[in-house]
Amino acid sequence: MEFMREKVVVFTGAGVSAESGLRTFRDMGGYWREYAIESVASPEGWKANPQAVLEFYNERRKAVLQASPNAAHLAIAALEARFDVVVITQNIDDLHERAGSTNVMHVHGEILKARSSVDPFLIYPLATAVIEMGQLCEHGSQLRPDVVWFGEVLPEDEWNASVRVAESADVFLSVGTSAVVYPAASLPMMAKRRGAFLVEVNPEPTALTEYADEFLQGPAGVILPQMVELVRGVRAIHPA
Ligand code: APR
Repeated sequence: MEFMREKVVVFTGAGVSAESGLRTFRDMGGYWREYAIESVASPEGWKANPQAVLEFYNERRKAVLQASPNAAHLAIAALEARFDVVVITQNIDDLHERAGSTNVMHVHGEILKARSSVDPFLIYPLATAVIEMGQLCEHGSQLRPDVVWFGEVLPEDEWNASVRVAESADVFLSVGTSAVVYPAASLPMMAKRRGAFLVEVNPEPTALTEYADEFLQGPAGVILPQMVELVRGVRAIHPA
């Protein structure tokens, strides 16, 4: 088998961006410890108080624009030198792309885009860091962040494409996710059922750990660069 052509699918969650200073959701200090999901990340919350929802995502967008890719993002991009890499991310930030990853699928949307409230296919790149009340789509509906809220279905084409990619993996790397939000959290097991070698990187065990072929416990910003070194066949003389 040609080692070079192995298909590596990297599935990421908020933990991969934690070392860039972006908050996760369910850890200590995570967003869902401070905000009610129903109020800021659901269609009901949007209907009840769109201003509050826009403010929540405007704050997060500012944080993303001020953040930089960390060693984990850079390591994932570096894997492309040796493997056929696809990144499937639950993250709405653009740190994978800024790190140089060329094949990134966002299953939960992208915070640097806005979309119509009446037509989910009407998506606009954001020129400014904020979406304000009164900014309308071409059908006259209030613009909202292009993210998938709880209770909403994932865009069908993107979802079907991510399932196909997951099922084609030789190695499936799950990085920085608690693996509790479905349907995205079903991707690792779909890959494993199709024969992928399942590796998990996380400082804490998760719902996925018992199914992983390899659990690499630690921060992604430490583990992933080591993994790239190993793959490059150069083992650092000074262990990290
Ligand atoms: N390196 C690797 N993993 C880390 C790091 C780190 N430096 N720091 C924290 N983690 C791990 C945590 O241990 C936890 O398992 O990242 C995970 C973050 O889990 P969540 O906060 O649940 O985030 P995520 O899995 O991405 O959430 C999934 O839920 O809230 C929704 O739509 C949102 O996409 C998100 C989805």
